[in-house]
Amino acid sequence: MPVAPAERFEKFFAATSDCQFYVKKDDDGRFRYVHVNPAALAVTGRAEEHDLIGLTPVEAMGEEYGATVENNIAEAFSQGRPYHFTGRLGSTDDGPVYDANYIPLRDSTGKIAGILGSARDITQISDLSERLLHAQRLEALGELSGGVAHDFNNILTILQSALRFLAQDDLEPAKRDVIFREANKALKNGAALTQRLTSFARKEKLQPKLHDVENLVSSCLFMMQRMLGKRIKLNVDFERGLWQARCDRNEFEIAMMNLVTNARDAIEAGGEVWITARNKVRASSDPIHYPEEYVEIAVRDNGRGMPPEVMDKAIEPFFSTKVDGHGTGLGLSGIAKFLNDVGGALRIESEVGKGTSVSLLLARDTP
Ligand SMILES: Nc1ncnc2c1ncn2[C@@H]1O[C@H](COP(=O)(O)OP(=O)(O)OP(=O)(O)O)[C@@H](O)[C@H]1O
Ligand SMILES: [Mg+2]
Repeated sequence: MPVAPAERFEKFFAATSDCQFYVKKDDDGRFRYVHVNPAALAVTGRAEEHDLIGLTPVEAMGEEYGATVENNIAEAFSQGRPYHFTGRLGSTDDGPVYDANYIPLRDSTGKIAGILGSARDITQISDLSERLLHAQRLEALGELSGGVAHDFNNILTILQSALRFLAQDDLEPAKRDVIFREANKALKNGAALTQRLTSFARKEKLQPKLHDVENLVSSCLFMMQRMLGKRIKLNVDFERGLWQARCDRNEFEIAMMNLVTNARDAIEAGGEVWITARNKVRASSDPIHYPEEYVEIAVRDNGRGMPPEVMDKAIEPFFSTKVDGHGTGLGLSGIAKFLNDVGGALRIESEVGKGTSVSLLLARDTP
């Protein structure tokens, strides 16, 4: 005997480990549970469905977590279409992470009758991917360290010979000034280098702030040049009067390092990399999720480019074409996530045999 569709769904509803529920808007404008599955009961610590029916998510889960759920429901209701949420509940770092879908159901007149929700706890996966991202950062740091050791050696050599000169009693004052200046410059380079390295390795929370984009990009040029080595030429071109934009410095630097590494890995011989920065206004042909006004920072290479099937998957987490575990496939996906967090967007263009251009679009902001 075939099982009727309604019965099949009822069985699934009862057995799935995802929290599933149906809420309706009450006369007071609050959404209240009408139907909940056993997984939802377990998460809210209730034994029977009638313990939860009639409650709002805030009443069922408390203000901290319930408010996020109510916001998501309200979002699906006001948009009139399915709403997808991935994130941590509550405002602290220790809340559970959920991946949830909220789907408006309409009555025969087309009016939204209620919202169907399905939420999966992905806390463990999310923690794991955060740890992987950190590991990836450390690996990139390891890659950098050869070049960095070389830079530090140069700095130490400059300082050492400066001290030797300064120890001479008969040194002309003009020469002494030059030596002081050079030694100071070397010290500043060393300090900048350590600062970049520590910020790169740090496991900080995202703090989007207003940033001067030219300063943001300039401050990582030194590291990018190191990453590319002598074999690949780095060209830089910034438009004058770049806007200020909303960004997180630490994440931005990691993103640029990842893009430059990708470019380096795609270049076989005689390659070049171009870093450009331009003010842009969203064109009608641009995707809707681009900010209305943004600064576009592009990293372009003339490497091997991506075939369409790689392009399609490039920003998926863990997608990598690099062999022998050379790539975690978390570079571009991490960048996409960071840009999403700061209200920006990612643009990728690529042609096989010609090269690739990956742009960070940072939303314009004013003080
Ligand atoms: N500039 C580029 N040129 C050609 N292909 C690229 C470029 N950037 C990314 N790709 C492709 O996209 C894939 C995913 O890139 P992503 O940065 O996410 O991971 P990965 O570079 O493979 O790994 P990891 O970043 O951990 O080193 C790459 O494996 C590569 O196939
Ligand atoms: Mg990468």
